Parts: sequence; structure tokens; C-alpha cells
Amino acid sequence: MSHADMVLVEALRLQWEWGAEEALLDAPQDRRHAAAPAAPVTPAQRASTAPPEHAGAAPPQHAGAAPPQRPRARAPSMPAGPAEAAQIAARCQSLETLQAAMASFTGCALRDTATQLVFADGAADAGLMIIGEAPGAEEDRAGKPFVGPAGQLLDRMLGSIGLDRRQARIANVVPWRPPGNRTPTEAEIALCLPFLHRQIALIRPRGLLLLGAVAAKALLAPPERDLGISRLRGTWRQINIEGLDSAVPALPSFHPAYLLRMPTAKAQAWRDLLALREWVESADHKANITTM
Ligand code: URA
Repeated sequence: MSHADMVLVEALRLQWEWGAEEALLDAPQDRRHAAAPAAPVTPAQRASTAPPEHAGAAPPQHAGAAPPQRPRARAPSMPAGPAEAAQIAARCQSLETLQAAMASFTGCALRDTATQLVFADGAADAGLMIIGEAPGAEEDRAGKPFVGPAGQLLDRMLGSIGLDRRQARIANVVPWRPPGNRTPTEAEIALCLPFLHRQIALIRPRGLLLLGAVAAKALLAPPERDLGISRLRGTWRQINIEGLDSAVPALPSFHPAYLLRMPTAKAQAWRDLLALREWVESADHKANITTM
């Protein structure tokens, strides 16, 4: 290998380590001449200027620069705050309008690097809702939550207590894949949370299974949200969701991705699954959760 090749390989390795593990375009795009980032946009401006999904807006061209081989698939995000997300979510009266509103929401920069929105999977009238952290690479490609290795373990975990994923509603705190599978930031979580709250309010589940620290911290209120997942797991907690008359019971447990890395934690996860099964089998919930 020549020195030049080695330099290129090292540059690629660096990109990989920093999370650039997916090719978004077929051909490289020279971003050195891209326009300066736009100034923050007000909600009113956004409403009047937001382009439709896959609008295919072409980036500005520098004189003499070769045109990119493919136009950008989407317009770049325009930062928004949780209050704006909450307003949009509150207007959605059905899961379909919520999904459409999220798909056209340009306020979260994760949308720029994700392939697509990963909205949810499973029944609209599920009694049990399972909440994860954020899509990974396979979920990003498939547009469905929990279809990669962690999802396959989740399926086996549910199967071990006689449940099938189709009996549950599955969603994530953050519906766009963070680059390189990094943990979503607090700002990203706060921005996406109103959409998840709205989905929970529309589904009206009898109970929630919160997979991992991010889901538990995002949905629980203080002081519980400040406890680690090892302290929280295995005990039913109560979550208040706007639009629901009563609190929803929620069982935090370890994330299946963590269990794949830390098999010794499976014994505790099994105890959590038994608690979930006991809850499912209690007379109040059985009909709503286990019959389809
Ligand atoms: N991990 C998650 O938290 N969610 C998914 O959908 C996949 C992996």
C-alpha cells in the first residue's frame, strides 16, 4: 500500500471512529462552498417556508464548482425548541397525523443524518407500550424500531414470557438515528419528547416498559429521573402524560443492547420480565394485552 493510500485509510478510519459509518450519498459532496448556516428561524417563518419532505432543494453552487452528482434528498434542519414541538404534537389528533407531522418536522438536526423517521411499530390499541432510546443502523434502514440485534433479543425476551412484539406498541424516545449510534443529547431528547408523549396519549396503553437509562430518565419525573437504571429497574413507577386522565404504570428495565454487552445483567432483566408477566396476567390487564 502506498503512503497516499495509507493516509486515505487512516482518514476513513477516523471518520468511522467518529461515527460516520454510513454513506449518505453515492458520490462525495464538496461542502466547502456550502452556504453559511441559516439564522434561527421563527415558528411563523418555518410554517411559511418549510419545504415538503424530499423536496430535493439543490444546494447553492460556488462558481466553477462541479455540480454534485445527486441533489440533496431533503432540505437541512432548522433548529426548533421543545415548545414548538409540543405545539405541533398537541395539534395531532391521530397517529397518522402525528407520524406525518414528525416526518415533516425540520426542527431536529438528527433528521439530517438519519435515513428516515422511525416512528413506531405495533398495534395502535396495544395495552403495553415499549419505549427504547433511539434507532440504530438497522432500524434507520428499515424505518422500524428494534429490528437489529437488540430488537432480536427483545423479541426473545418477550417470547420467554409468552408475549409477541405484535401485541405491543414499540417506539423510541428519539425517532431519528443519532450518528454513529451515540447517545442522544439532553437537548435532542427534550425536543423529541413531546412527540413521544403525544403518541402515548393517543395509544392510551395500560402500561409502559422503559428500556434503558435514556427512556427511564426521559419519561420519569424527579426525583426518580435522577436515579440510575440499576436503582430504577424492576419497580413499577407512575408517569403522568398530558391528555391522559390517570398516571400510566411504567416498569424500567435494562436495555437489550446493554444485555448484549453485559450478559451478567440478564438475571436481573429476567426478574423484571417476571414482574411484567405478573402484571400482564393480572385480571385487569390480561384481556387488553394478551388477546389480539
Ligand atoms: N435501540 C433502541 O433503543 N431502539 C431501537 O429501535 C433499536 C435499538
